[in-house]
Amino acid sequence: MTTTTQAVYQASISPEVEANRKAEHPVHALFLNRWSSRAFEPKAVAEETLATILEAARWAPSASNLQPWKFIVAKTEAQKLKFQDFIKPNNRLWTDHAPVLFLLISNKHRPDGELNGAHAFDTGAAWASIAFQAHLLGLATRAVGGYDKDKAREVLQIPAEYELHAVIALGYRGAGETLPEELQQREIPNGRRVLNESIIEGSF
Ligand SMILES: Cc1cc2nc3c(=O)[nH]c(=O)nc-3n(C[C@H](O)[C@H](O)[C@H](O)COP(=O)(O)O)c2cc1C
Repeated sequence: MTTTTQAVYQASISPEVEANRKAEHPVHALFLNRWSSRAFEPKAVAEETLATILEAARWAPSASNLQPWKFIVAKTEAQKLKFQDFIKPNNRLWTDHAPVLFLLISNKHRPDGELNGAHAFDTGAAWASIAFQAHLLGLATRAVGGYDKDKAREVLQIPAEYELHAVIALGYRGAGETLPEELQQREIPNGRRVLNESIIEGSF
């Protein structure tokens, strides 16, 4: 990387991120500037914006290009009410105010009926594309694992061959002060362990 590129990356890091996240190596500012929000503005997400975000997920890589994912989208009040039935109360403190919620699920089987061992891995790639595309459009996301999967399956009538992954909250990032007090101080970009703790050179 040239010094110029490095400087451009650095200059694009937002001040709140700069204060909390330090890259060990130069990376595009996108990777640092995306962070998960709990506070959302009460501003609707336009249909075409949502479509672009899900389009990004459509182009995620998947084993044998099987694209095992489905996105169950809740954008009307009636649809979002159904999600309130299965999201855990500690998360509902903020998910109830997200303009869009969707549930990521994936088909566990290949078309020939054999198990697709990569369905969850592939759907994780789709989630990352959603998070980054949303960020590029000026929106924020937060994944939610704190929900009752059995209840969600029942309420949304999800067939047994699909595994449920995470609920994703999507919207325009709001001010932290709009959150209940216990969540306000957590509304900041968090850090990461050092890279070397994740790398195994050679074998385990
Ligand atoms: C699968 C998954 C489940 C998560 N579940 C919750 C959750 O139930 N409640 C919550 O507030 N955040 C949840 N998160 C958000 C993580 O805490 C967050 O992504 C992590 O702390 C890293 O922060 P960042 O996304 O801002 O970089 C979840 C994230 C993922 C990927």
